[in-house]
Amino acid sequence: MTVADRRPIGVFDSGLGGLTVLRALHARLPGENLVYFGDTARVPYGTKGEKTVRAFARQDAGFLAGLGVKMVVVACNTASAFALDHLREVLPVPVLGVINPGVRAALASGRQGPVGVVGTSGTIRSNRYQEGLMAGGLVADDILARECPLFVPLVEEGLMGHAMTGMACEEYLTPLREAGVGTLILGCTHYPLLKDDIGRFMGPGTALVDSADVLAEAAAERLGELDLLADNGGEGRLEFHLSDIPWKFAEIGARFMGKEITDVQSVGLDEMEAAGQAVLEAADRKEST
Ligand code: DGL
Repeated sequence: MTVADRRPIGVFDSGLGGLTVLRALHARLPGENLVYFGDTARVPYGTKGEKTVRAFARQDAGFLAGLGVKMVVVACNTASAFALDHLREVLPVPVLGVINPGVRAALASGRQGPVGVVGTSGTIRSNRYQEGLMAGGLVADDILARECPLFVPLVEEGLMGHAMTGMACEEYLTPLREAGVGTLILGCTHYPLLKDDIGRFMGPGTALVDSADVLAEAAAERLGELDLLADNGGEGRLEFHLSDIPWKFAEIGARFMGKEITDVQSVGLDEMEAAGQAVLEAADRKEST
């Protein structure tokens, strides 16, 4: 017999980009309670090294686990690239990342021509997308990966459709357009907000892929398999925790989420680390026995 599991799904990102994933999860699983953590005090992760991102991601996910979530979604490509395997080892609940869903969606797009990937420096240098695409049958020459570090601040400043964003597209994407890229993976959870700018620059011959919808589908499937769906027919509750409340939070948050964000709590870094400690220490103890 199916028993409704009302525990929330935990979702985290380095900042607010993961709200594009939260939005897709809420659309696919409207009855689920969702709790979001954005590490706005330490964003960006995309310019930081592997060890640092892994340590941050461990605290972020530990904080959510301490809130009693039934699943953790890593709604950040950089954290998925550097920390997913570690989080799966140390967390007592299923953990989903955004890279594999993005790879699957790109391989299924059916377009001709090379596959492009754009993301933060960390994501691109981790090679996770490139490895995933090659495991799916592509050869290295068919994959063009580009770091696009200016895209994140352009989105945060709301400069969609602005000439500066057009210039950044030209700077980063010209080699991909010239190579005739047929499928372009938006390998950063901020980039779906630049779909119009990127799509206009690349032209109609390029399919843009973002992992949010594929991830939401994978989450629904996994919860179903594990008998963890809330299954309550009603509207789930959305709760937000941020390690800092940015000056333009209301404006930026609404842009990502597609609606006004309420129920926001600020959580200090010390408090956040302490909250997840017990769960992570228990997992570490289990691992070392
Ligand atoms: N949202 C993050 C990602 O998907 C990018 C922002 C950052 O650099 O922290 O990688």
